[in-house]
Amino acid sequence: MSDAKTVKLVDESNATQSELPLISGTLGPACVDIGTLYKDTGHFTYDPGYGSTASTKSAITYIDGDKGVLLYRGYPIEQLAEKSNFLETSYLLLNGELPNKTQFEAFEHDITHHTMIPESLTSFLNGFHRNAHPMAMLAGSIASLSAFYHDELNVDDPADRKLAAIRLIAKMPTIAAAIHRYSVDRQQRYPRNNLEYVTRFLHMMFEVPSEPLELNPVAAKALDLLFILHADHEQNASTSTVRLVGSTGANPYASIAAGITALWGPAHGGANEAVLKQLEEIGSPDNVETAVKRAKDKNDSFRLMGFGHRVYKNFDPRAKIIREMCHKVLNELGVKDPLLDVALKLEEAALKDEYFVERKLYPNVDFYSGLIYKALGIPTEMFTVMFAIARTSGWIAHWIEQHETPGSRIGRPRQIYTGADVRDYTAADKR
Ligand code: SDX
Repeated sequence: MSDAKTVKLVDESNATQSELPLISGTLGPACVDIGTLYKDTGHFTYDPGYGSTASTKSAITYIDGDKGVLLYRGYPIEQLAEKSNFLETSYLLLNGELPNKTQFEAFEHDITHHTMIPESLTSFLNGFHRNAHPMAMLAGSIASLSAFYHDELNVDDPADRKLAAIRLIAKMPTIAAAIHRYSVDRQQRYPRNNLEYVTRFLHMMFEVPSEPLELNPVAAKALDLLFILHADHEQNASTSTVRLVGSTGANPYASIAAGITALWGPAHGGANEAVLKQLEEIGSPDNVETAVKRAKDKNDSFRLMGFGHRVYKNFDPRAKIIREMCHKVLNELGVKDPLLDVALKLEEAALKDEYFVERKLYPNVDFYSGLIYKALGIPTEMFTVMFAIARTSGWIAHWIEQHETPGSRIGRPRQIYTGADVRDYTAADKR
């Protein structure tokens, strides 16, 4: 590839030429800097799904969709999955380097001592119907944290930014467990400081007074791994939402609450819940062929949930890890789930089908994760909440990076206007 530093734009609409700078990062495609395009040419660019548009520079995560590569601060996801844990990975995303022992212990101490939530947040939760969707309760609860911590919301103060990051990472599991227990009409459980992050969450979710909770280490390890795999993913829809909201100067809790609502959509984080419901709807490996046929039918809105990805045109590296883990966890937990056979048959059928091969549609991170959550006893409606717990580390890392970047401006895209041309108001009796 040439080392040209500009691209020439020949504008035949007004017989002009302009040169636009090419910007390269550490890895990945170079970007044409169009910051002065409108000033120089009077034209906007048009890219409604941002398929070819970089919205920012970031040092947090790198994805190569063709090669199926995912790096958190340069470390391959496969190595972090094998050797790290979710809290250490969260430290890495936030600080850019893996922590040494002292740094990790200090970080873990901070997180552990911010896990409690205000008691009045409990009354807030009690205002919902018991069958409210957990994502609705989560979005509302996280946005409400701004009301509890309004004295430490100076987005320009690094100490306030760090404290918000600690509070969000620490309190998400407590709030998620409180939401689950409210929906099953059980009293909330306080976080136990003597437990590590994921075990503490499982304890708050499932502990009952009638008998001691047998916490299977396989479950905690599996959930910790799922949290690592879901922690960040570059400029996906919910992270871009957090950055856009953050660009207005909104406080971190409001920004993360916006990310939660964006994640909820079935085209994004809501897919893990949709996958399980779809596998249940398909019901048996014998019905897989019909499901694949429907997914290919342009007149049918049915899509194979958990398949396809805007960036990965190869296997999602996270899906590969989760797929292997799924077999291991179900075996170790002694869970026989007939839906796993449906999933395997669906994957096999799709990966052989020309429609999916041609469009490079592979299983993504959401295809198998729900089967593991189900095996851990997590209710289906809580699956996207699990995703949100993990992605909070990535979201807040991006929110902080954005505020640490000098010259960051409010995000304000333009448009192609297709409405009525200018016209005069007509009196009601003349319409
Ligand atoms: C996540 O961005 C991220 O990084 C997200 C994420 C993260 O970690 O943050 O990775 C998490 O959101 C994963 C994606 C979870 N969503 C799903 O599993 C929902 C099912 N997938 C699709 O909705 C879709 O694949 C998307 C939304 C994921 C991607 O949409 P794109 O990039 O806009 O792709 P497209 O809709 O333009 O599809 C291209 C073609 C189309 O066919 P043609 O018009 O070319 O004939 O592929 C078809 C689509 O109809 N297609 C599918 C399909 N996904 C795409 N056809 C059937 N089933 C599918 N699942």
